[in-house]
Amino acid sequence: MLRDADFARFEVAPLTGVLGAEIRGGDLAGDDDPATVADVRRALDRHLVLAIRDQRLDPQSLHRLARRFGPFSGNPVHTPLPGLDDIVAFVREPGDGDAVVGDHWHMDLAWMEKPPAIVMLYGETIPPVGGDTCFASLVQACHALSPGMRRLLRGLTGVHSARGVYAVNARAGRLGLSADRDRLDVVEARHPVICEQPGTGRSYLLVNPVISRFDALPEAESRPILDHLLATALRPEFTCRVRWAQGTLLLWNNPLVLHTAIDDYRGYRRVTYRTTVEGWTQIAAAA
Ligand code: SIN
Repeated sequence: MLRDADFARFEVAPLTGVLGAEIRGGDLAGDDDPATVADVRRALDRHLVLAIRDQRLDPQSLHRLARRFGPFSGNPVHTPLPGLDDIVAFVREPGDGDAVVGDHWHMDLAWMEKPPAIVMLYGETIPPVGGDTCFASLVQACHALSPGMRRLLRGLTGVHSARGVYAVNARAGRLGLSADRDRLDVVEARHPVICEQPGTGRSYLLVNPVISRFDALPEAESRPILDHLLATALRPEFTCRVRWAQGTLLLWNNPLVLHTAIDDYRGYRRVTYRTTVEGWTQIAAAA
């Protein structure tokens, strides 16, 4: 198995040639050293998706760990656990027939002024098979743009709309919603289409299915371009698939990837806890 030699504190093994890594050999909850968090951040900047195996967390310790990565981003959609306003439980019972949360390609809370920088999802109860999470790299999608498309997109802003987000989440029966449907449906944020990550300077294509249009173009002209960009982002060679195990802590660099849950584990219980770390105002890439 290939190991990323730049990490000594724990083993970092890339999942594919371009996206994701698996980490073994660390105990994040039991390790207070700030250098450990700094190394996880460094691995996340490089691989964008980290499946950190064999962690022992519960909602309280996930909360404590997450806040070492930064303040809570806020979550205007889901009802949090009592006493922990930054932790949401996603629970699916064996007999449930309604929708699985997040079973479509998306970016979490992309319509916020500052979409979360990091999403953390901890697997407490995991089906023996199924329920994987898939990711697509928006960094690779950006590399794949032709010079002409890059020229067209440079300077454009995407209008990210929360319209329909309430309805999608309401399909998952057990998920408590704290949002007011009418208020959420009119929320929008504008982000540059080609962005630059602060700190690394990496360019990425900030697209996802909640973009209703580009600000300078009507919907009818925006749609075919968006469809093309999403198809580019979802090319198989730009994706990875994470297979869960109990005790896996999954972290992803939210604005730089798309993700989807897979609805293929009916008859099994799955319980995960999610929290998010505050992001940044998206910055247009210089070139
Ligand atoms: C999500 O979309 O945030 C949930 C992903 C999952 O449960 O696999």
